[in-house]
Amino acid sequence: MKRSKILGVGHFVPDHVVTNHDLSQLMETSHEWVVERTGIEERRHIVPGGGDTTATMGYKASLMALKNAGIRAENIDFIIFATLSPDYYFPGSGVQLQEMLSPDHTIGALDIRNQCSGFVYALSVADQFIRTGMYRRILVVGSEVHSAGLDMTTRGRNVSVIFGDGAGAVVVGVAEENGDASTDGNGILSTHLHSEGRHARELAVISPSTQHWISHILNENNPDDESYYPYMNGNFVFKHAITRFSEVIKEALEANGIQAGDLKLMIPHQANLRISQYIQQKIGLRDDQVYNNIMRYGNTTAASIPIALSEAVAEGRLQRGDLLMLAAFGSGFTWASALIRW
Ligand code: UT7
Repeated sequence: MKRSKILGVGHFVPDHVVTNHDLSQLMETSHEWVVERTGIEERRHIVPGGGDTTATMGYKASLMALKNAGIRAENIDFIIFATLSPDYYFPGSGVQLQEMLSPDHTIGALDIRNQCSGFVYALSVADQFIRTGMYRRILVVGSEVHSAGLDMTTRGRNVSVIFGDGAGAVVVGVAEENGDASTDGNGILSTHLHSEGRHARELAVISPSTQHWISHILNENNPDDESYYPYMNGNFVFKHAITRFSEVIKEALEANGIQAGDLKLMIPHQANLRISQYIQQKIGLRDDQVYNNIMRYGNTTAASIPIALSEAVAEGRLQRGDLLMLAAFGSGFTWASALIRW
């Protein structure tokens, strides 16, 4: 069976920087509180009406990934687009990206709804398609616009200070096209996916949905209705995150007979710097083995891992043969990991 590998990475973040001080003008919060609890110093928000959307940012990240892979859009066989914040209720953003890339190249476009784990889930799907030989080059995208849907008052401060906008993309292709992948050993070694739906409402946006449609919201006209803003039971999510992150990282290490010390880099989903630091300590990794950029972008859910990966590659943090761990946890709850030999 073939193995897949990442051929190129890219990312895009909006220019508009929003500092903790900026947020403190809108709600009762402070730079000190946000940095101490989350590590976040600033994040990016789109400018409403400025042209950036989840789909367009995904497109810009994709162009960079394609360029770095040396592949034209017409040579992509399939699109997988992960987001919790699509431009439309339906269709998903995958078809928008298909049109932007090459409107007459009518390849399939799959939308993934796994929130913070979305990118790793999407990568796993791409890996399976490549391994079976169904596709040879797949564009995998994570893109989010959070800023348009946050409660920017003190009521929503435990969520709104955390999330940011941005996009990342990778091109996944066949490993060692002219060689023997099994002896070379490069590429995606394994992926591990989990969910626990009993905690679905601990981190969720409840409406609009078929359970609570827009007409209800408008008819009820209830100023206390928070159902269309993200709700997060922060402490509960935090506790589950540190447990599940650690489990799924160990699962990937054990499945491949690898020690934590063998990893060149781990890129955790950027949920909270305190979570990343806790996992680092629990797994036993040095500072140079963990990549964090939440300080600059906040939590961009499905986009956080590919943005971080794109920056890490640009900084020369990964060389051929290095072992890379990706791991994520978030709403669902869902969690996942991927072990890659670069
Ligand atoms: O990406 C998906 C997965 N997401 C996560 O993994 C996030 C997990 N959770 C967290 O990161 C943390 O729970 C938060 C950063 C969301 C919150 O940090 P915390 O240390 O758990 O704070 P808390 O919710 O226990 O709140 C402590 C206090 C409360 O005040 P009182 O009741 O002690 O008076 C909050 O009202 O901090 C208050 N607070 C704030 N104060 C200033 C909550 N948000 C803010 C804020 N600024 N933005």
